Amino acid sequence: MFKKTSTTSGYRDPEVLVGLDLGTSKVTVVVAERDGPTGEAQIIGMGQAPSNGIRKGLIVHLDQAVRSLKQAIMDAENMVGLELSDATVSFSGGDVKSVRTKGMISLGRNPRTVMQFDIERVIEAAQANVAVPNNQIILHTIPVEYYLDGNTGIDDPLGMTGIRLDIDLESVIVPTATVQNVYNCVEKAGLTVNGFVIKPLASALGALTPEESLAGVVSVDIGGGTCGVAVFADGRPKHLAVVSVGGDHITNDVASVLKIPINKAEEIKREVDLFSEKSDLQADKLEFEHMGRNYSYSMDELTDIVQCRVEELFSALVSTEVSAAGISMLPAGLVITGGGAKSISIDQYLSRVMNMPVRVSLPLDSNRMPPGRNGPEYTCAAGIIRYALEQERDPFRYIEQSLEQLKNSGGSMTSNIKGPRGNGHDDDRSRDPLFGGKGILQYLKDLLKELF
Ligand SMILES: Nc1ncnc2c1ncn2[C@@H]1O[C@H](COP(=O)(O)OP(=O)(O)OP(=O)(O)O)[C@@H](O)[C@H]1O
Ligand SMILES: [Mg+2]
Repeated sequence: MFKKTSTTSGYRDPEVLVGLDLGTSKVTVVVAERDGPTGEAQIIGMGQAPSNGIRKGLIVHLDQAVRSLKQAIMDAENMVGLELSDATVSFSGGDVKSVRTKGMISLGRNPRTVMQFDIERVIEAAQANVAVPNNQIILHTIPVEYYLDGNTGIDDPLGMTGIRLDIDLESVIVPTATVQNVYNCVEKAGLTVNGFVIKPLASALGALTPEESLAGVVSVDIGGGTCGVAVFADGRPKHLAVVSVGGDHITNDVASVLKIPINKAEEIKREVDLFSEKSDLQADKLEFEHMGRNYSYSMDELTDIVQCRVEELFSALVSTEVSAAGISMLPAGLVITGGGAKSISIDQYLSRVMNMPVRVSLPLDSNRMPPGRNGPEYTCAAGIIRYALEQERDPFRYIEQSLEQLKNSGGSMTSNIKGPRGNGHDDDRSRDPLFGGKGILQYLKDLLKELF
């Protein structure tokens, strides 16, 4: 494969899409190449490095995080033989809120066709009702449901006829500092940020089949330090959340119960079935040798502790987030992904305690991903590419917020719908008539200029 022009020249290959997943355990860089005629993209490489300086999804040491990121970028570049210049970035972090607001506009006294302009107006009406706390910003604005003359289930009102258009809008709000740190980290590692996506959304797009997301499903990405939750129905995300509990908490439980170091606890967690029913457990005792010492521990007690933690997490998660999504039924049940979904028998355990179907999901693109880098822990990375493509296809599905207007209006928002991403050219955005403000990335760039 030929070598592309260097990053420093600012050249961006519109045929290449790059996703970057800043995880608590690992940083992953996914590279995809557009498949012209289909409008899809094929993953051609994955790079990764252990995460340093990231805890519970948050950057806690910038230089360490930058080093991890550079290593992952280099790994990906070596695999695909390309020099990467820019990426869509996924991250999580504890303080992520999802807020639902409503908007309504009249189309006139007589029924008429809904135009693009009307869709923008109704989105703006709902955005005007979002109260954004100080030092927080809206990362995604997602139309959850349109109603035309009170009729629900309208997937896209464009071209339909009515006299009144309503919308339910979900806004994902994150601390400004979290986004700034992520932005700073990626730019310092030598990539230009061309978009952000919150982990639960990227993961769900990477994991859910169209049938599941239409029927109603909750997707949970069990990472090292966080769980990303996305409730989907009618093919759309209805609610997104991040909880600061992940697989590492189970490791810590095992370590503290058995009084062993974390790395040994991690090994046990990966190798021992901690989730089968007691009657199905293969042994009453967990016996092993570590650093010259023999250990023997009751499996009953160990599984009780681990299962309690997971049951507590999922009962609270699923019930809270599903009710926040306003969904009464989840016919497609629970789809789990992320490294934590690899625990032996966790799917059967969750199905028993949650009383719903549970599926462990690999990335939908797993058969096109490099062997060894196509397991559940890579679903989020693969989902970033799907997100970037969906953004191009339908810019009104996940609307990015213009921060400049937010800044100028002191928290309240007016016209801030961002237009299509274009096909890999930043200029397309500024030419777009919908592009009301400077956008999140320009805001962050300006802020950095002020700082340095
Ligand atoms: N075979 C396995 N069995 C059980 N748990 C596993 C296995 N492999 C990995 N894990 C757990 O998965 C977690 C890491 O998952 P993942 O790589 O998806 O996290 P991350 O994306 O880096 O973190 P986050 O999404 O929370 O920021 C760790 O807690 C790890 O112990
Ligand atoms: Mg993750």
